[in-house]
Amino acid sequence: MRSNLGNLSRRLSTVTSRQTVRNGWTCQSCRVSQARRKLFSTTTALREAKGDAIDKPYYVTTPIFYVNASPHVGHLYSMLIADILKRWQVLKGRPAILSTGTDEHGMKVQQAAQAQDIQPKALCDTNSETFRDLAKKANIDYDFFIRTTDAEHKEAVEYFWGRLKESGYIYETTHEGWYCVSDETYYPETMIKKRVSPLTGKSFMASVETGNKVEWQSEQNYHFRLTAFKDRLLKLYADNPEFVVPKTRLAEVVNWVTNNLEDLSISRPRSRLEWGIPVPDDPEQVIYVWVDALINYITVAGYPMWPPGSEHTKGWPADVHVVGKDIVRFHSIYWPALLMALDLPLPKTVLSHGHWLMSKKKMSKSVGNVVNPFFAIDRWGVDTIRYFLIYHGSITEDSDYSNEFIVINYKKGLQHSIGNLLNRITQPKQWSVRDAVVEICGKPSDELPDLVISQKQMIEELVSKVEKHMDALNPTLALKAIIDVAFASNVFMSNAKPWDVKNESETTALNQIVFHTSEALRVVGILLQPFIPEKSKRLLDVLGVSPDRRTFEFAKLHADNDYGTSFVPIVKGAQGSLFPPLPVED
Ligand code: MSP
Repeated sequence: MRSNLGNLSRRLSTVTSRQTVRNGWTCQSCRVSQARRKLFSTTTALREAKGDAIDKPYYVTTPIFYVNASPHVGHLYSMLIADILKRWQVLKGRPAILSTGTDEHGMKVQQAAQAQDIQPKALCDTNSETFRDLAKKANIDYDFFIRTTDAEHKEAVEYFWGRLKESGYIYETTHEGWYCVSDETYYPETMIKKRVSPLTGKSFMASVETGNKVEWQSEQNYHFRLTAFKDRLLKLYADNPEFVVPKTRLAEVVNWVTNNLEDLSISRPRSRLEWGIPVPDDPEQVIYVWVDALINYITVAGYPMWPPGSEHTKGWPADVHVVGKDIVRFHSIYWPALLMALDLPLPKTVLSHGHWLMSKKKMSKSVGNVVNPFFAIDRWGVDTIRYFLIYHGSITEDSDYSNEFIVINYKKGLQHSIGNLLNRITQPKQWSVRDAVVEICGKPSDELPDLVISQKQMIEELVSKVEKHMDALNPTLALKAIIDVAFASNVFMSNAKPWDVKNESETTALNQIVFHTSEALRVVGILLQPFIPEKSKRLLDVLGVSPDRRTFEFAKLHADNDYGTSFVPIVKGAQGSLFPPLPVED
């Protein structure tokens, strides 16, 4: 066995050095870290050869955010969906990693720095920190915060470029077309229209998709032979209908690849764009910001320190790239094609979400209609905003943001359903949740009134409903299913009227009602953890659910006979409740 491992180790070293020769190009910093990489590769391969199980963690990503401006609620939404997907996996007991970060190169950032008369790096340092602060404030449970100005990322991009060049899919040509700085992309002629500025009355050319201004540009640059991947891309979508979720977006992608695919300009002349990663062997060209940015997802997963077959040890391929609908094309066409060119594994799914609108227009810095998420969280509370964005937002549709909607959602979905139910079940002296759990838990009865039977069924069905929606990557439907149970449990309590049970001979009947209400709350509390982590913790504390009994396997009837005595003092009155009145309502 020892000699086998020795052979493998020797073979791996040979493969690594042979690969370097074959690729013919290794960047300076990659050469420096080669020894480190070889050590990592060899150790991983040896562990695999010995049969050590190396589980791939579930890997979720957010887009990396442009640092030309401060974050708004739309950015928070991408982060939040990714956070919930990660927390859901953790709840189910699977190791999961979430990566987020900032996209710092490109024209957009260069121009923003020029406008403020500061160095681009200084602008990036300040604004990147604001995105990190937002992630912390919103309770985003991220594991990596990558910046595209990080040295490791630069190494990865340079290495990737070298391999791409080696692959033969890059060529130099003169490019002419409509470039949009705001969207950092060229648009084909068919995607351009004339617009008139409502402010100045002047006309300008703009993207049909985003309405943002485009400019005609003619320049010498490198192109990626994207058209060579047309058939493979179409096959990818046909074989993996879940590669883009939802289906409507997949249809758009298929349509684009079928009808609009063109080779991709992947560098800009340095005379136009200085702020970026220079093309390794051509300092007069700078790598296109989207190529640079997309590579972040593999930088985080350790690229290029991967021996073939071991990509998964640090998460790659990603299980889900969460993106807004405006950037689906980059993730589901350009990104897989670039990976295909290098024979690297492809991400499993690109989950696209709808946009947040203000006054019927996409919330965006350029329109000037953005909501500052820091203020929103300070005003309404972190879980109120998390709840609102997921419940009222949508994967498939755009959604309207307004303070009025936040108040309505809070009152209806949180105060009147869960908060009310918790008060109703834990506050009366007439019964005790603990006594009900002791008497009923673990002793299912065949003789239950119809009312209790339906309540029981509803709790039993909840987990599979939520699981189905989360598997389909639709946290909104999952949250709605959970809240529906809280609503229905209030109705159950009103109909079952435990407060009317006065006779001691009916204690078991009383405890059945109390037990089946508190079970609903306990299961709801467990399942709500990925969505509103602070409030669900408080809910489970009030119910006295032990912290080691809050995982997925406990989210079913009769799974916990230990709870019922609150860990925290129960304070009566509105202010003491789980969802107290909101501070100020518009
Ligand atoms: N830097 C690129 C992403 C590169 S990923 C390799 C980018 N950045 S962004 O800051 O403009 O957008 C980041 C995310 O915020 C995207 O998912 C985008 O869809 C999302 N949102 C920006 N405005 C939005 C709304 N109004 N509503 C919902 N999300 C939107 O694109």
